[in-house]
Amino acid sequence: MNIINATLRKRQGLFTVTCDGGRISAITAQPDLLLAKDDDIDAAGQLLIAPLVEPHIHLDATLTAGDPQWNMSGTLFEGIERWGQRKATITHEDTKARAHTTIRMLAEHGIQHVRTHIDVTDPTLGALKAMLEVREEARHLVDLQIVAFPQEGIESYDNGRALMEQAIELGADVVGGIPHFENTREQGVSSIKFLMDLAERRGCLVDVHCDETDDPHSRFLEVLAEEARVRGMGSRVTASHTTAMGSYDNAYCSKLFRLLKHSGINFVSCPTESIHLQGRFDTFPKRRGVTRVAEIDRAGMNVCFGQDSIKDPWYPLGNGNILRVLDAGLHICHMMGFEDLARSLDLVTDNSARTLNLGERYGIEVGRPANLVILDAESDYEAVRRQAKARVSIRGGQVLMTRVPERVEFA
Ligand code: FE2
Repeated sequence: MNIINATLRKRQGLFTVTCDGGRISAITAQPDLLLAKDDDIDAAGQLLIAPLVEPHIHLDATLTAGDPQWNMSGTLFEGIERWGQRKATITHEDTKARAHTTIRMLAEHGIQHVRTHIDVTDPTLGALKAMLEVREEARHLVDLQIVAFPQEGIESYDNGRALMEQAIELGADVVGGIPHFENTREQGVSSIKFLMDLAERRGCLVDVHCDETDDPHSRFLEVLAEEARVRGMGSRVTASHTTAMGSYDNAYCSKLFRLLKHSGINFVSCPTESIHLQGRFDTFPKRRGVTRVAEIDRAGMNVCFGQDSIKDPWYPLGNGNILRVLDAGLHICHMMGFEDLARSLDLVTDNSARTLNLGERYGIEVGRPANLVILDAESDYEAVRRQAKARVSIRGGQVLMTRVPERVEFA
């Protein structure tokens, strides 16, 4: 299969990308526009990108908002209450059906790699067992990484450590954590040591919900980064949210950044979720409650955007479109200078792939899997400005999905 007349990010001119046996076999510069023949796919000068990536979502809670009751205040705390009501009715089939529907929504938007956090503070590990089946059943649409996520804590939940161990034994790919939610500072620190030991011993990646609060004294990021640095695991470790960094003073943050850089860890920000849930104890002036995305990026560290929720008790909107989150994130994080706009897709493609440790399984290079998306735009700038949709999604060298662009006719 040839994809002709493709614009590739960060390269000049038009290209033909050839796929054979599920892999990219050639990338050829074109002197001129080509006419499509046989089974050629004509990108018509539009962007051909490696698939969009969803690096942070909770597929076990998705599509439950309003069932049985809506979150009327919009707060995290009412979200927990509403989730408690819904949790009582959850079944294996219900979890699987909602996850499959959501994965389809993600795939419709050109996403082919997903990292989902799954709550393992449940003696039955029911949601995890459901998601392990979904990971296999949805393989034709996405590669799914499952994080063993201790929503109610590791140290402050009965048998929390054993449940984490069991979750990894059953097949979760990534070790999670939530140190700021543990009952004491000491428990937060020991939970990080425990989860890093577990990940190191089992060869797993790490993704910790870290300092997801406006409390400037929530400082578990330094503990996570130091553990990663000492163990040489930085590239395999991700700090999600780190919203407290938006409330740290600059003196502390400048010292922290030195450690963060040495550690080499990755960052995920979920700007729509954080702007919605954080800042809730403030009157005015009101904090944004989002981590320092631009500053992390400027310092040469790896940061990407995730959706976190789609229509769940904590966040009622969302439709699978990560470009919507990119748009919001660029606004919220003061990243609307043209240089940022012109490379904005990094935050939902290459940076996210690095966070997920996709390595040579990702990217438009000869020999890599033929997973490709044609976006209905010619550049990163136009993609985010026009909220471009995925026009064609190719997976393993086969067309997975095509979309007919909408047409507007004036009378
Ligand atoms: Fe999350």
